[in-house]
Amino acid sequence: MGENIAYKILRKHLVEGELKAGQPIAIKIDQTLTQDSTGTMAYLQLEAMNIKKVKTKRSVAFVDHNMLQQGFENADDHKFIQTVAEKHGILFSKPGNGICHQVFLERFSCPGDTLIGSDSHTPTAGGVGMLAIGAGGLDVAVAMAGGAYHINAPKVCRVNLHGKLQRMVAAKDIILEVLRQVTVKGGVGRIFEYAGEGVKTLSVPQRGTITNMGAELGATTSIFPSDERTFEYMKAQGREAEWQELKADDDAFYDEEITIDLGKLKPLAAKPDSPDNVEEVESIGKIKVDQVAIGSCTNSSYEDLMRVAKILKGHKVNKNVSLVIAPGSRQVMEMIARNGALGDIISSGARVLENACGPCIGMGQAPGTNGISLRTFNRNFYGRSGTLSAKIYLVSPETAAVSAINGYLTDPREFEEDITVELPEKFIIDDSMILKPAEDGDKVEIVRGPNIKEFPINSALKNTLTGKTLIKVEDNITTDHIMPSNSKLLPFRSNIPHLSKYCFSTIDSEFSKNAKKFNGGFIVAGSNYGQGSSREHAALAPLYLGVKGVIAKSFARIHKANLINNGIVPMTFENEADYDIIDKFDDLEIDNVLDGIENGILVVKNVSKDKTFTVKLDLAERDKAILRAGGTLNYAKESR
Ligand code: F3S
Repeated sequence: MGENIAYKILRKHLVEGELKAGQPIAIKIDQTLTQDSTGTMAYLQLEAMNIKKVKTKRSVAFVDHNMLQQGFENADDHKFIQTVAEKHGILFSKPGNGICHQVFLERFSCPGDTLIGSDSHTPTAGGVGMLAIGAGGLDVAVAMAGGAYHINAPKVCRVNLHGKLQRMVAAKDIILEVLRQVTVKGGVGRIFEYAGEGVKTLSVPQRGTITNMGAELGATTSIFPSDERTFEYMKAQGREAEWQELKADDDAFYDEEITIDLGKLKPLAAKPDSPDNVEEVESIGKIKVDQVAIGSCTNSSYEDLMRVAKILKGHKVNKNVSLVIAPGSRQVMEMIARNGALGDIISSGARVLENACGPCIGMGQAPGTNGISLRTFNRNFYGRSGTLSAKIYLVSPETAAVSAINGYLTDPREFEEDITVELPEKFIIDDSMILKPAEDGDKVEIVRGPNIKEFPINSALKNTLTGKTLIKVEDNITTDHIMPSNSKLLPFRSNIPHLSKYCFSTIDSEFSKNAKKFNGGFIVAGSNYGQGSSREHAALAPLYLGVKGVIAKSFARIHKANLINNGIVPMTFENEADYDIIDKFDDLEIDNVLDGIENGILVVKNVSKDKTFTVKLDLAERDKAILRAGGTLNYAKESR
C-alpha cells in the first residue's frame, strides 16, 4: 500500500523508531521558528545548552506578540532576542515585519521540509506541504542545538474536499466545518491531510488558513499537497527554487477519512467560548455587534485583506462598531498601501493596527463590558480578549467586513458586489527587516535587560510524591486558563517569578498563594487539559510554584510534552470516575514513583478521603528518562 504525504516526509526525516501510528519516533528538524512571547525562554534554554551556533538549515526568531512598549520590558526582550539571534546564527524578523506564521509562509516555507515552532499555529506552513508542528520552547531549543524532535507517530486523517466554494464562502468556513465535525479534542494524535479535487480550487493563503486552525482540533499538524498552485505562490514570492511537488501515492493508506462538499458549505461562526461551537451564520441570526477585528495568523494575508477592502470600498463602518484591522505582514501592508486598497479601508472608518498579533493575544482592543466581538482569529476562549464578559465569535473576513458595515452579524452572501481577488504574479519582496546573524558570533554581546530572569529547573524525580490538590478544574482547560496572557502579563514572559503570581488567576485567585503556602502539590483536571497555545509558561509557572504532578482525564499534546520537559508528572485516571473522589485541598500521596514511571501505572492515595485509585502514565522511553532526571535540560546534561 502506498504512502500519504505526511508519512513520506516523516520517513525521510526519521532518525529513531518505527514509523507506525502510536509508536514513539524521533525526526530530524530542518527549520525552527520562535516568536517573542515563547522565544525569550527558548533562547535562555538554548544558552543553557552551551551551543555556539544553531545546527538547523534555517532558524528564524520573530517578534510579533508583545509589541506594546508601555514599560521597558518588551523592548528589552526584543533586544535580547535580536542579540541572541545575531550571536547564534538565527535570522531575526524585526518587530513590525509581521506575524510569524504569515511571514514564514511568505518567505521561508518549503514543501517537504520539517519545521517545529514554539507556537501552536506553526502548522500554517503546512499550506505549502511542509510538515510543521507546534512545540514547547525547550523542544525548539533542542532542535536548534541539533537534537531530534520526539513524538508518537500520529494517525493520518484524509480530509476529502469535493467541489468548489460558493461565492462569499471562505477557507475559514472549511476549517470551522472540520472543527464542527471533529471538535477541539478530536484531532489529538492525528495529522489532517487534505486531498481531493477541491484542493486545487484553494490558493496557498487559503490553505494556510485551514492548516493554521487545525491547531484548534488539537492535531499534531495539517498538510496540503504541494502542487502547481503552490508553485505559483512560491514563484510570486521569488522562491520557486525551493518548490518541489508533493503528492500522496494513489493507493495511499489513511487511518481515517472525512469528506466535505465545498459547494454545500455556508458561512459559519464559532460561538463563545470555543472554536468548535460552530453554527451557520444565517441560523445564529442578526445579533448586534460592538467590535469587529480582522487579522491574526489565521486571516491576515494579502488575499484576505484585499477581499475586506473590496467589501469596505464605498461603505462606512456602522456607527456602533469599532472595526480594527491588522495586516499579517509588512509585505501585505505595503502591497495594499501601494495598490490603493488601504485607502478604501481607511476611508471606511476602520482602525488600522500594526502588522502583529495585537488583539488576538489581548494586546489592546479588549471589547467593552458585555461586548459582542466578531473576530477572524482562531481562538475565542473565555477571557482571551481581555474582557471577561465579552462574547467572541470567530468568522471569515467576508462575514466580519459585511457585519462591520451593517452593525450586526450578517451572512456575507447578502453582499452582492463582486469581490474576486487574484493573487499577484509577484509580491513585493523586501527582506530588509529580516536581519542576518553575525559571521562571527563570538563578537556579539547579548543584551540582557533586568526583565530577563533565570527560569526554574526541576530536580531529579523523588520516589514518593506528596502534596495537596491545589486546584480541581473541569474539561478543556486551556493554557490561557493556566497562565493567562494579557497586555499586563505578556511583558513578563522572561520573568517566571512575577508571572507565577497570576497562575490560574482567572479560575482561582488564591492558587499561587496556596501553592506557596502548601509548598506545591498537584493539579486535578478533566479531559483535554492544556489545550490551546503552546506556551511553556503553563508548565514553568506551576513548576516554580512547586507543582509535582497533574492528574487529568486526558491531556493536550503540546502541554503534556511541556510538563514532561519540565519534570512535572502527567498522569491520567485509569477510571475517569475517580475524578469525583478528589476535592480541592485533599492530601494525595504517591509511592514507588520511579517504578511506576517504568511500568506506566501508579497508585494514588487520597489520604483525606482514605481511598486509593490508579493512574496511567503514557510515556515513551525517552519521556521516562526525562521525568526521572527532572526535565529535559537535566536529561540533556546527563546524556552528554
Ligand atoms: Fe499571534 Fe494570535 Fe497567531 S497571538 S501567532 S496571531 S494565534
